[in-house]
Amino acid sequence: MRATSVLVTGAQGEIGHGLLTRLATEGRSIVTLDIQPLESSLARLVRREFTGSVNDRAFLERILAEFEIDLVFHLAALLSTRAEFTPVTAHQVNVDGTLNLLEFAHHEGESHGRPVVFLYPSSIAVYGLPDAATKLRARRVREDEWNTPTTMYGCNKLYCEQLGRYYARHYKQLAAEMPSGRVDFRCMRFPGLISAVTVPSGGTSDYAPEMIHAAAKGEPYACFVRPDTRIPFMVMPDAIDALLQLASVPREHLTRTAYNLTAFNPDAEEICRVVTKAFPRASVTWRVDEKRQRIVDSWPADVDDSAARRDWGFAPRYDFARAFDDYLIPTIRERYR
Ligand code: SER
Repeated sequence: MRATSVLVTGAQGEIGHGLLTRLATEGRSIVTLDIQPLESSLARLVRREFTGSVNDRAFLERILAEFEIDLVFHLAALLSTRAEFTPVTAHQVNVDGTLNLLEFAHHEGESHGRPVVFLYPSSIAVYGLPDAATKLRARRVREDEWNTPTTMYGCNKLYCEQLGRYYARHYKQLAAEMPSGRVDFRCMRFPGLISAVTVPSGGTSDYAPEMIHAAAKGEPYACFVRPDTRIPFMVMPDAIDALLQLASVPREHLTRTAYNLTAFNPDAEEICRVVTKAFPRASVTWRVDEKRQRIVDSWPADVDDSAARRDWGFAPRYDFARAFDDYLIPTIRERYR
């Protein structure tokens, strides 16, 4: 008999770190797929680790043969800044990789006869506001507004949201026997994420976590966006809670396949103020990278997450003050002691 497990791709990444720890605490049997070997503290938590690409179907076939997967967290992706330097690779990983995982989930569902719950983190990068005046006017952007991303990453995420909806509702709709419904696709559009234990790489919302971690280490930081730059953020414990909550809510409660999420939306100067107060040795300067600035300027200053709150009870624990006072500052201080 195959063993029932959860599959996590991109497990070695920022979200993966927190998620593996939580899944292990809940006693789940975990299988991972990541391009890099897991660090030992994570490797300890998993039943089986596969080191390889989401583009290599041989790994997925092996997992299908050996494990009964009923839940997938497909986290592997190239983030927005990185993807602009290698757009074709980004498309291969972000889109072709997701297609492979959706096919895999469909076949898993077919083989064990139950829908596979497929959690997909999308992003505020799916939005593309044309200019600062529009961004100011737009206020809390709803899921179906401004779906005109300017980055390869944003295009990839927006398309894969649609691909997931297709697998969930319309897959092979002309076949003699309608095979859709094997994949129970659930997607959340994360705002910028900030973790106290890891630093992201390759994203464009990275200025916030980079500033905080540099300050805690007593290193100078040159922020690559203007002080008045505003986008939504959320801390990692709330992101992990949201993933697990969306994974476990009864399907009939869900009215959409993709949900906005947010917790707070300070501008870069407000982040700088809190950080320099907490870490007086911090030194933040502003060295604006106009090109990366344009990307952040195309993302909304705030999003409307009322659908997630209503349908599955999303309620982040950390607002701006609590995020810093109760999570980021104490945890980061401990980390760099
Ligand atoms: N944090 C991501 C990025 O900056 C956005 O989802 O690319």
